[in-house]
Amino acid sequence: MTPEELGQTVLKQRDDHSKYLHVFNVCTESGCASARSGEVADALDAEITRRGLTGKVCVKRVGCLCSCAQGPMIALDAGKTLYKGVTEKDAPALLDSLDATPLKELEFPADQPFFTRQLRVVREHAGTFEPEDLDDSIRVGAYQALLKALTEMTPAEVIAQITTSGLRGRGGAGFPTGLKWSSVAKNSSTLKYIVCNGDEGDPGAFMDRSVMEGDPHRILEGMAIAAYAVGASRGYIYVRAEYPLAVKRLNKAINQATRRGLLGLSILDTKFSFQVEVRLGAGAFVCGEETALLASIEGNRGLPRPRPPFPANRGLFNKPTLINNVETFANIAPIIQRGGVWFSTIGTAKSKGTKIFALSGKVNNTGLIEVPMGITLREIIFDIGGGIPDGKQFKAVQTGGPSGGCIPQQHLDLPVDYESLMSVGSIMGSGGMIVMDETANMVDVARFFMEFCMSESCGKCIPCRVGTYHMHKILRRINDQQGSPKDLVQLRVLCDMVKNTSLCGLGQTSPNPVMSTLRYFEHEYVMMIEAAANKTEKIEVNA
Ligand SMILES: Cc1cc2nc3c(=O)[nH]c(=O)nc-3n(C[C@H](O)[C@H](O)[C@H](O)COP(=O)(O)O)c2cc1C
Ligand code: SF4
Repeated sequence: MTPEELGQTVLKQRDDHSKYLHVFNVCTESGCASARSGEVADALDAEITRRGLTGKVCVKRVGCLCSCAQGPMIALDAGKTLYKGVTEKDAPALLDSLDATPLKELEFPADQPFFTRQLRVVREHAGTFEPEDLDDSIRVGAYQALLKALTEMTPAEVIAQITTSGLRGRGGAGFPTGLKWSSVAKNSSTLKYIVCNGDEGDPGAFMDRSVMEGDPHRILEGMAIAAYAVGASRGYIYVRAEYPLAVKRLNKAINQATRRGLLGLSILDTKFSFQVEVRLGAGAFVCGEETALLASIEGNRGLPRPRPPFPANRGLFNKPTLINNVETFANIAPIIQRGGVWFSTIGTAKSKGTKIFALSGKVNNTGLIEVPMGITLREIIFDIGGGIPDGKQFKAVQTGGPSGGCIPQQHLDLPVDYESLMSVGSIMGSGGMIVMDETANMVDVARFFMEFCMSESCGKCIPCRVGTYHMHKILRRINDQQGSPKDLVQLRVLCDMVKNTSLCGLGQTSPNPVMSTLRYFEHEYVMMIEAAANKTEKIEVNA
């Protein structure tokens, strides 16, 4: 494809699309698909054909429309009306309503804070085009940023824009993306790799899955721009095999883009070439850690190794490698299109842009949300999330998954940014956000996350392999009301030791949920230990 052909495709697609009187955008990502959204789309298609409306009304199989628990979701006419919980049987009524009033029983008010308080950069086009259709992706702007980078910018200028934007890696640690790209660019090796980390192993997280399913070309475009900037020629996307729809759509997108000259050799008629492949992971949490992930792509067991050397210098097949998260790559196209300065105006002094969260747990509105950095936890949970169900009180919010912590009521007005979350004992992580109400047992929450880390520990180093086992044993004992005051002392010693001596981030951060619950909810641990003491006393008295 030449630059001219890309421009013509945009115009033709927009023209074709404007001919429809009505468009039903049916979400076909995993959440809605599991509620039969594919069948709903088929039923609408059949009804359109039966009524002779082909060419006037169309059905699009689009990406996520946010409110995953209410699916199948449909957005009619660019979101003018939003429907939830639609079934195949509703197809005739939906068509009847096109020139009448919306179906009240299915309508989901689109003017509520759940939608209006979000700010979309990564997901700006989500739910408005068909991710499996390259031309429809091009209609909403795909590959325009790549064209700009290749034809109007030098690699150094691309990196300068990313640096100016202040973008930090969305995979958890928040490392400055521009700095990472510069390190790889500086290396003079003739063979360099780009790796996209789509492992997403945190319990409750599905942000990256949604971007991969809902806008695969956006990720490929971000990777290609990165490859141009750092001088890489090959790329891999590492995705867990439990994400079959993401794998299917990424492979399809790679084939489509390669066939049309948007990937592969002489991209967009320039001298730049870049090839991408998908590699499947077997679903081990540790394989999200960058050195383990690279080992896994190489065909070895996914075990972390000490750094340095960092992947930027010695990564995949011992070559310099740029590894970024899915959401990080999905931020690249808008930065190149609108400029680093534009991006840097969103967010806080040190955390720029937006962040996608998977809002779940005891909150009225669950689903995927994209919000500007710096928004408070209270705004997310009570405005966007609609508060706590059944009149219960808020107790804590868990951010950062197994590496994160539980944040209590007194910090609800904390701005959501990397440093603030860390200052209260949690982390941004990749974007899991689990809300807990007054009924939550915080010792059990700590036990749950420790069990996860214990099971997912690769066993390579002793502090993590043995430490997580013992911490889990103590937590279980306390939670079963069989603990003693000595257990609490031992737990603190182990947290400190595992944090400071483990080889990789899994072990180093595994004590976080314990330490944060001890910091804010120590009384719950004490209550359980006292209950254990009372039980023993009663047994002794009875004896
Ligand atoms: C145990 C463990 C699991 C991780 N899982 C992921 C993951 O699923 N996705 C991800 O992007 N980063 C994950 N990371 C972070 C990566 O090691 C790496 O920092 C990240 O992919 C870099 O991309 P970024 O700079 O764009 O954030 C994990 C780290 C650890 C220690
Ligand atoms: S910290 Fe845990 S997961 Fe990481 S290398 Fe050591 S044993 Fe493996």
